[in-house]
Amino acid sequence: MTQALYRKYRPKGWDTVIGQDHVVQTLINSIKADRVGHAYLFAGPRGTGKTTVARLLAKAVNCLNEDPALRPDNTCENCKAVNENRFMDMIEVDAASNNGVDDIRDLREKINFSPSQGKYKVYVIDEVHMLSGGAFNALLKTLEEPPPHAIFVLATTEIHKIPATVLSRCQRHEFRRVPVDEIVANLKYIIAAENLSADDEALTLIARQSAGGMRDAQSLLDQLSSTGTKITLALAQNVLGTATSKTVLDIISSVLDHQPARGLETIHRALDSGADPRSLARQIVEYLRGLMLIQMGNVDQVEATREVKVQMEAHAKSFNTSEVLRMMKIFNNAATDLRGGWQPSLSLELALAEVMESPEESRVSAAPRPTQVRSAPAPQVESAPQASTSEKAILNVNEVTKSWKALISALPKTHGNLNGLLNSVKMVDVEGKTLVLGLASDVLIEKINKPDQIEMIQKLIKDRFGVDVSIRCIVTNAKGKIPSNVPQDGMVAAAIQHGGEVVDVD
Ligand SMILES: Nc1ncnc2c1ncn2[C@@H]1O[C@H](COP(=O)(O)OP(=O)(O)O)[C@@H](O)[C@H]1O
Ligand SMILES: [Mg+2]
Ligand SMILES: [Zn+2]
Repeated sequence: MTQALYRKYRPKGWDTVIGQDHVVQTLINSIKADRVGHAYLFAGPRGTGKTTVARLLAKAVNCLNEDPALRPDNTCENCKAVNENRFMDMIEVDAASNNGVDDIRDLREKINFSPSQGKYKVYVIDEVHMLSGGAFNALLKTLEEPPPHAIFVLATTEIHKIPATVLSRCQRHEFRRVPVDEIVANLKYIIAAENLSADDEALTLIARQSAGGMRDAQSLLDQLSSTGTKITLALAQNVLGTATSKTVLDIISSVLDHQPARGLETIHRALDSGADPRSLARQIVEYLRGLMLIQMGNVDQVEATREVKVQMEAHAKSFNTSEVLRMMKIFNNAATDLRGGWQPSLSLELALAEVMESPEESRVSAAPRPTQVRSAPAPQVESAPQASTSEKAILNVNEVTKSWKALISALPKTHGNLNGLLNSVKMVDVEGKTLVLGLASDVLIEKINKPDQIEMIQKLIKDRFGVDVSIRCIVTNAKGKIPSNVPQDGMVAAAIQHGGEVVDVD
């Protein structure tokens, strides 16, 4: 098997590290001045060079070259050992899998032994934010009094999870996302070295797709080059799944036609057949970005096949720019919100639901409304029953509203999905023995209306208020269209929401 490109092209010297000049220059200076710290924290997105630079540092401090300015020289015994992964004094610990107190204790014991090959023992603790609280404390003790021969490099993608006590002991360096043009330049270099051939647009697409991560870009190139043919834009789009897929077009059309059920079904079909929710969300954002470019007259900047461009131009005419921007924001949030989570598809579904809400609606506040429809002269409504005199409410709606958060927090952890849905409830009402939940769209109603979930909501109410209720869910997103003289939560409103129309008011 050939070596993965991202391993093969890991920088061996300072000069080939891309886009992190601010970090590299500081480290070079401290090597030259022989003033290396004992604890470093490298923070930044994945694949931006943290491990690479940590290894360079380990190599430089142990390099045998007499001129500090030339370290690492990649020719001495120690440099070669590091490059060949057989240098005993560079110890890489993956905190994601060794995150307990015992692991750090173990490390602390070993750290007192002198280096066996070099001058310094360099500990690289990757994903350090994964350490448990106890392990952080144990680490802190070591950071407070490190043996003179030890250097720690902590690396993390999530600096906000690092305790301040640890941060304050470390020299901190922030790694940046690598700009698209620098990634492209690196890919071009690799292409030449590997005798591959690729279109510039394809490389730009790869670079953009990898969001500033060099490793991702190199891995994508690897994946594309394995086809053995020229890397064209069309090939890249297909393999990377960025060819504006029918899925994306369908989703946008379902928004345009206001057909939430169809949109939801499209999403589910795509996910069922293996699409990644996050990249689907990104593709939607990419597509919307295309619409925006077209609307602003920059059609040339849109990377898409001719047929897709035709479709895009039609969509660009159907939405106004502020709608496109709003949708981009919503789907962009979904794309960044999807990491792991208990239900990776939910963010995408919620995004769809939010997009389907009319913008005026999303500005209407969700204040609790009166429980009962009072005897305002009932307007006539076509295709819906008349408001009947209402039964006495079994629950006080204000109390339910007030304790909504507490109710949700009583949900067992296993009901993460329902938790999200209950948090998105916009309006609560009680009609007789029925608890009415207002949700923003049919999509959400479809999600919540599962027997086990409804039972769970009933149980929460029973546990807290001691009453048995039935549950009814309504869409509140047509609310803005209900005339202001009609009680907003009553039967008339519900009827309007279900397609009824006020034909006469007496
Ligand atoms: N700044 C960079 N300059 C050049 N190559 C890089 C850079 N960052 C990452 N790479 C490439 O990606 C691979 C993985 O990078 P790595 O340093 O392990 O990233 P991190 O530790 O930040 O996740 C490297 O082997 C190298 O090929
Ligand atoms: Mg790393
Ligand atoms: Zn050397």
